[in-house]
Order: sequence, then C-alpha cells, then structure tokens
Amino acid sequence: MCGIVAYVGPRQATPILLEGLRRMEYRGYDSAGLAILNGQGIKVRKAAGKLSVLVDKLKTDTPAGTVGIGHTRWATHGAPTTPNAHPHTDRSGRIALIHNGIIENAGTIKKALLQRGHTFQSETDTEVLAHLVGELYKGNLEEAVAAALRDVDGAYGIAVVCADEPDVVVAARNGSPLLVGVGENEFFVASDASAILEHTRSVVYLDDGEMVVLTRSGYRVRNLAVRSIEKPVNQIEWDLATIERGGYQHFMLKEIYEQPESLKNTLRGHLLEEEGTARLKGLNLADEELNQVDRIVITACGTSWHSGLIGEYMLEEMARIPVEVEYASEFRYRNPVVDRRTLVIAISQSGETADTLAAIREAKRRGARTVGLVNVVGSTIAREVDGGLYLRAGPEVGVASTKAFSSQVGALAMLALRIARLRHLSVLQGRQFIEALNQLPDQIAQILARAGEVEKLAERFANAQNALYLGRGVNFPVALEGALKLKEISYVHAEGYPAAEMKHGPIALIDENMPVVFIAPKDAVHSKIVSNIEEVKARGGRVIALITEGDAEITRLADATFPIPETLDLLSPILTSVPLQLFAYHVAVRRGCNVDQPRNLAKSVTVE
Ligand code: AGP
Repeated sequence: MCGIVAYVGPRQATPILLEGLRRMEYRGYDSAGLAILNGQGIKVRKAAGKLSVLVDKLKTDTPAGTVGIGHTRWATHGAPTTPNAHPHTDRSGRIALIHNGIIENAGTIKKALLQRGHTFQSETDTEVLAHLVGELYKGNLEEAVAAALRDVDGAYGIAVVCADEPDVVVAARNGSPLLVGVGENEFFVASDASAILEHTRSVVYLDDGEMVVLTRSGYRVRNLAVRSIEKPVNQIEWDLATIERGGYQHFMLKEIYEQPESLKNTLRGHLLEEEGTARLKGLNLADEELNQVDRIVITACGTSWHSGLIGEYMLEEMARIPVEVEYASEFRYRNPVVDRRTLVIAISQSGETADTLAAIREAKRRGARTVGLVNVVGSTIAREVDGGLYLRAGPEVGVASTKAFSSQVGALAMLALRIARLRHLSVLQGRQFIEALNQLPDQIAQILARAGEVEKLAERFANAQNALYLGRGVNFPVALEGALKLKEISYVHAEGYPAAEMKHGPIALIDENMPVVFIAPKDAVHSKIVSNIEEVKARGGRVIALITEGDAEITRLADATFPIPETLDLLSPILTSVPLQLFAYHVAVRRGCNVDQPRNLAKSVTVE
C-alpha cells in the first residue's frame, strides 16, 4: 500500500518526511517522492526504486521549507517509474498532490480534462485528480479539494499543497486510512502512526468522507458538507513493530483480516452490473480475440496453482472452454501442445517466480497469447505477458499467501465472467454472478467476526501430527490449499484430496489421531460428501467440517463444524479458504512456529 506523510511546523520538512517514509517502508512500495513549500513555490523531488534513491538525489539538492508532503507508491495504475511516482502536480505546477487508493472514474475525468486542453505526464489516476483540483482552484485550496472530491468515485487518502498557500496542507480520506498527528506547535498527516511516532503519540483518526486542514496554528477536521467537526485525540500505545503489523501479532494475520478490503480492491471498477460482465481492459485482448481462444492453459506454482485449479472449474463451467492447469515447473520442460489459439494464464502474487516466468516464455515461444494475474505491479511476469489483470491486493508480506489467493480467485471469476458473457452466459446470469461477487467482501468479514471459533478448533487439534483435507468439485483445490497452509507454517504433515479419492488409499490413514477437515458447503455434491464423512466417522476418524450455515445433517455427524455464508458454488472457495487460513495460523502459533517466515521458505521463489 502507498504511504502518505505531511508536515506543517517550525522545523525543516524534508528530513521529517524522509524519516516518516522510511518508517512506512514495510508497507511495500516501488517509488517515492516529496513536495516542499518554501514561500516561493513548490519543490517536487521523486524517484523510482527504493527510498535510498530519493535520499541520494536529495543529498545535493535538499529543498528548504517547513511545510511539505511525502509519499511512497505501491503501483496500481502505471508501472513504478519516476514520472508515475508521486507527488503529481496540476498543469500550473502550483498544486502538488499525493494519493493512496484507486480513483475508479479517473478515465472519465481524464477524458474531460483532455478535452479542456490538459496534458498529462504520467499514466496515473492520481495526476488526473491533481489536475482536477488545479482546475477547481479559485484561491482556496480547501474548497478546491472538497469540490474535486465531490466528483470522485473510489478509494483515496490524499494530501495536497499549493504554492499560493504556503502554510497549508489539506488532506482527505475515503477508504484509505489517514490520521492527524498533533505535536507541540507542529502538525502531521500520515497513513499510519509509524511515520510520526517519534514526534507525537497524540493522533486524530479521520473517518471516510472527512478532510483536515493543517496550518501553523492548528488543524481543523471537516467533511464535504460541514466545515468543522469535533474529533477525539487518541494516544498511541503501540510500539513501532506492532504498528507496522497494524496491531496484529503477525503480518499473516493482518493480511487474512485485510481480505474484505483487498478483494474489494481487486473487483473495484471492473464489474458492469448493467451489462452483466466485467471490464478487463488490461488483458489487451479484443472480444474477437477472446472468442478465437479454443483452449486455456493456466500455469503457476504453489498457492497460485491452487487458485488456477479453481479457475479451471469457473472457466469450463461458465465459458465452456477446455482448461488445463499446469505446474509451471512441469510445463516449462515438457513439450506442451500450445498454439496461437491457446490462451495461457500465468498466476503469480510476486510476478517473479522463476518457473512461472519460464513457462510464460515457453508459451510465447509457441505463439500463445499470454495474460498474467499478478499482484506486484511492474514485476517481471507482469511486464513479459501480453496483457493482464493486477490483483491490487496490496503488498503481501507473510510468506504464506492468503489475501493474494482470494484476490486471484476473484480475478479468475471476473475473467470467466468476461469470456462467458461473450459466449453462453445471459445478461441475467451475469448480473446474478456480479451480485454474488459483490457480497463476498462482507461475507468474508462475517467469517472473520467468528474467528474465535476457529481458534478454539485449532486448540483442540494443535497436537495432531498429520491431517487430511477433503473437498469435492470447486472445493477440492481448497482442500489442497488448506493442507498447504497448515504444513507450510505449522510443519504438521497435511494432505489435500478429492473426497471421493479417500477410498482409493488415504482411508487407510484414518484413526482417532488424524483430524479430517471436510470442505462441505451445501453445493451440488453435498450429499456425496456426507457419505464421505460417514465413512470417516465409521473408522473412528475425527471430523472438522466447514458447512453452510444451518446444515443440521453434517452438524450431527461431525465432531466440529464452522459455518460459511451461502454463495454461488463457484465462488464458495473465496469463503471456505478463510477459516482454513485462520486454522493453520492458530495451529502454527500454538506450536511456536515463525508464522511470517516459516523455515526453509521464501516469499518469492526466484530460482529454479
Ligand atoms: C503459498 O503460501 C506459498 N508462499 C507459495 O506456494 C507461493 O504461492 C508460490 O511460491 C507461488 O508464488 P507466486 O504466487 O508469487 O508466483
């Protein structure tokens, strides 16, 4: 996620902003910049790459001034280049703006501005907003920002300065957190407290729709309608390390809890309710080209391979195209049948996995069209595929992938919807699918609200040395993913299997020491999985079942259950995977494992 920090006070702003940005490096970023006001105008300095690149640039060119804004960018629109780095200025160069979030209607606003003669230096939605504020500026920055935000759809946290008002910073929040730091005759704005903790522990949290105006004499909180709002001043009790994890004990837990928001960001701006389809311009594939695809190969590794398996069910069920899911490490060395009518989809959180990159290169060599479902903007895979869809899940720090997985499945759902609506899916079916997709973030939040029940399950089963995960249909890949989560962070041996396969061998393992986790929502194969649960119980196995709320039949059979909100069968993996992430997490914590950096594992396997 991007990092924002701003300062108004008696001290030189540049060192304060740079230290604030350094404290927010953990958020993940790919470029940095700042804008300093010195009474004679605005000095903007920015650079792609790590903060050290900007610091080096400033060593011989440190802008003087005691008011400024600073930014670290996690790219969502446009590659991580210097022109795309923030701050962005309006066409007069007298207004500078930094932004964390996604302006959904940036394209529409940009089109209108272009028609009015604006020209742009970057590919970002942020520059569009800077130009809009500049166009609306009539001598009052606060009012210009408020007017611009009334025209904006999407998530933002912004900070804005103007050369004509050298003692003012205006900031606003809608979806991307911002807080005000209240110092001794100095005032701050920041994305989180880590940026300003060394200066003050007194903070005011802005809520969505609120703005703040910082001046040398103080701050004033308002919203787009009311010019002044009273807000409580809070005292930060956390230490820096805890703040970086958002108050969570581990990054993995923080990222599990980010999923309602991260999935929303993945879907944001793509779903066209009226037409019952998804707009996926980044694919760089015209409808005619999508219609010529007669086969799809999905290639990935690990968790991303599991989401690919779910994509296979979605694409075959909805778009009626044959799909194969290939381990990238296998695909790259065998002699795959791939040609120009094959669409090869690479799924990768990091965008740097060596095997997946090699698989994409092999597919391109054979003439296939390639697209990437990638989280890290500007990563190698994202740059080498012909088109793609960024997950926009924000940086995933925990080695065990969680929010990237749910975002990958969400992206695959949108891809399946897009292709299906070009072929067999009706507009009504498309609208129903979109409605179910839009409900998922809140349904994930409902599951997270009951996380304590999963923690109790983990307590009961934390001493098991082995576990079996069973699922059917589109939840078979969830069984694989649940098993991977458990084994990679708690080191408990776990296997995922299609539930019916149990009879062909694994049932020999069943005894009272082997917990068997069933992913058993009320879907088309529910009655079959009930039989599998009975088979396990008949052999003394202990059963944990993820069930659809109110499933009395399995509740009677299982030793423990956890309820999942009802959704479409094809979308249920986004919900059923969440309790399995929590289960693995709590078992690992009880076993004293290093949850965020499990032994022997790396976040991105960039070597063979
Ligand atoms: C998942 O929890 C693991 N961290 C691992 O399997 C990961 O999914 C795999 O290495 C692929 O990484 P990628 O998505 O960055 O390509």
